[in-house]
Formats: sequence, C-alpha cells, structure tokens
Amino acid sequence: MNNIKAIIFDLDGVLVDTAKYHYLAWKKLADELNIDFSVEDNERLKGVSRMQSLDIILEIGSITLDNITKSDLAQKKNNWYVEYITKLTPDDILPGVIPFIKSIKNSNIKMALGSASKNSMLILNKLNLTNYFDAIIDGTKVSKAKPDPEVFLKGAEALKVLPCQCIVFEDAEAGVEAAISAGMHCIGIGSENILKKADLVFSGFTDIVFDKLLL
Ligand code: G6P
Ligand code: MG
Repeated sequence: MNNIKAIIFDLDGVLVDTAKYHYLAWKKLADELNIDFSVEDNERLKGVSRMQSLDIILEIGSITLDNITKSDLAQKKNNWYVEYITKLTPDDILPGVIPFIKSIKNSNIKMALGSASKNSMLILNKLNLTNYFDAIIDGTKVSKAKPDPEVFLKGAEALKVLPCQCIVFEDAEAGVEAAISAGMHCIGIGSENILKKADLVFSGFTDIVFDKLLL
C-alpha cells in the first residue's frame, strides 16, 4: 500500500469495544420477542444501520411488524444501548488504538471516522477521541448503509483525497465490502475467516506497525 494519504476508521468494534453492547441490547430485544438470536447471527448486524439490524432479527424470527411497532422496538434497543455507552470508560478503547492514532496524528496522513452509528459523537466525546479526526462521517450524515460505499466516499471527499489513497479499518463484513466498493484499501480487524475479502487482517491494533504497512 503506497501513496496513502488518509485512514478511515469504523468505530464500533474497531476503535471502541462497543460491538458487544450492540449485541447485548439486540439480544435483550430478541429475547423479549422470543426470537433465537445467536452470536453468529449477530455478524450480519455489524456495520448495518439500526433499522436494517431490526429487519434482520425479525427475518430470523419470521415475524412481520408494522413500521410504527418497528420504530418503537428500535428505539427501545437504542435506549438500552445508550445506557451501556454512557458508562464507557477509556478501558473500552480497544488495545493499541491510542498509540496507533497518535502516531498517525504526528504524520501527514489524515484521519476520518466512517461509521453507520448515530451514537458516534456521543461515544467519541465521552472518550475524548473527537479531536483526533479531520472529518467525521456518521449515521446522521449518510442515507445508504454499508455495504454501500457512501460513508467512506463521503469521508474521502471531506478529506479531499482520492479513494485509492485511503485505507479503511473495519471489523464487519459489510464494512469490508463497502471499502472495496469505494475503491479503497481495507484492513480487517478481527477474524480472517469472517473478513477474508480485506487486503490484510489483524486481530487488533497491537499487532500493527504503521510504518511497515505503507511499504
Ligand atoms: C454500527 C454498528 C452496527 C449498528 C450501527 C447503527 O455500524 O456496527 O451494529 O447497528 O452502527 O448504530 P446506532 O448506534 O445508530 O444504532
Ligand atoms: Mg464495526
């Protein structure tokens, strides 16, 4: 990967250990609806929007509901999720993230956030991460969820760089697909089995030496 001018980070499950809280909140809702919802099913929810996540859970349970009920249920899940994230502490930032983003901040590479979450600002502010980013594209700024590339293309545009000059860090299959559709390089954070379409996969930031990546 050469001529890299920017890095675009997903938030949940990449920078912050919040993917587990999304899962716990969806699991609670699924239990209430008597839907059997597993950790494996949860992989399909990663990176996709709140309403699409609910649709996937309802599909698993073969349940059809009207839009008003669906929006009430999504709100209920979000209330539980927000309860979790208001208790976040710096310990919830994933290992190696702070040294990694500090080393980029000291280089001439720009950084953007590219997340589907409408709670992104709440999380970034709570953990004092906001000021690291030159651009923040979150769920309030996009109309098409990953695997659509919109969130990442908007990030590149805001940073005034070309897609081919960006590396995306993603923990979700839908996010890796979005990065590839955007014409960007992609590094998966997590399991190689799930993120096989990424250019490279690391289990976490502690394994990454940034200078070596750019060779
Ligand atoms: C991220 C997460 C998804 C979540 C989505 C919307 O992409 O990976 O699991 O559903 O954001 O998040 P929100 O906080 O707006 O419900
Ligand atoms: Mg994620």
